[in-house]
Amino acid sequence: MSHHESNSMTLTLHVWRQSGLNDKGKFDVYEAKDVSPDQSFLEMLDVVNEELIKAGKDPIAFDHDCREGICGMCSQVINGVPHGGQDRTTVCQLHMRTFKNGDTIFIEPWRATAFPIVKDLVVDRAALDTIIQAGGYTACHTGGVADGNAILVPKDIADYAMDAAECIGCGACAASCPNGSAMLFTSAKVAQLAVLPQGKAEAATRVKAMTEALKECGFGNCSNHYECEAACPKGINVKFIAKLNREFQKSLFE
Ligand code: SF4
Ligand code: FES
Repeated sequence: MSHHESNSMTLTLHVWRQSGLNDKGKFDVYEAKDVSPDQSFLEMLDVVNEELIKAGKDPIAFDHDCREGICGMCSQVINGVPHGGQDRTTVCQLHMRTFKNGDTIFIEPWRATAFPIVKDLVVDRAALDTIIQAGGYTACHTGGVADGNAILVPKDIADYAMDAAECIGCGACAASCPNGSAMLFTSAKVAQLAVLPQGKAEAATRVKAMTEALKECGFGNCSNHYECEAACPKGINVKFIAKLNREFQKSLFE
């Protein structure tokens, strides 16, 4: 038996198909044959789609871009868990070796009020952009590129900001939250800027504007389920939510 034959898997996929926002949607069943353990989840779907196209059928629509875990585009709930439940792993970095021959896999889009379904597994995550546009930036003039050590940032602060900056804006936090809250995302952005000298100047207006946008976009409130941290492919810590809350309290006095 060749290496390929001995390792290849056949899987049964239950995939959410929905032609648009006003369609009810339903699961359709597909067989994925000759799946290599070395394929990524998206490569496995690519092959399924090639077969669908060859058969004259509508391929499964799904979002993706970098396929290396940095862009935050891939948004699939696999067996009930956003990104499939492997530690710090996006859908594009999920490998088929984590499944077994004969497995049945359920594949759904992000489900959150603020993320309307576009088609099949594709949702509209523009609400996350709206939150960033509300304050996830520094507007004050920072001048030209300064010398590396002209603005001193202690190592622990730099590390804290970098940990927050790891958020790739995928939206899995909202998709995993029973309240559909994007608090983890918003808190990472608020915390990252609030601790750095360049971001401090606008910290109060930023946290007010971003939490206001969060509400307006239809995201729910955080009630400490911590599902977000468990689903986050970048390991964003819920301590940033506590930081957002502290920044919000402080902003009320400014
Ligand atoms: S906090 Fe994590 S789950 Fe939420 S958008 Fe950022 S990377 Fe994705
Ligand atoms: S496709 Fe970019 S993070 Fe998955």
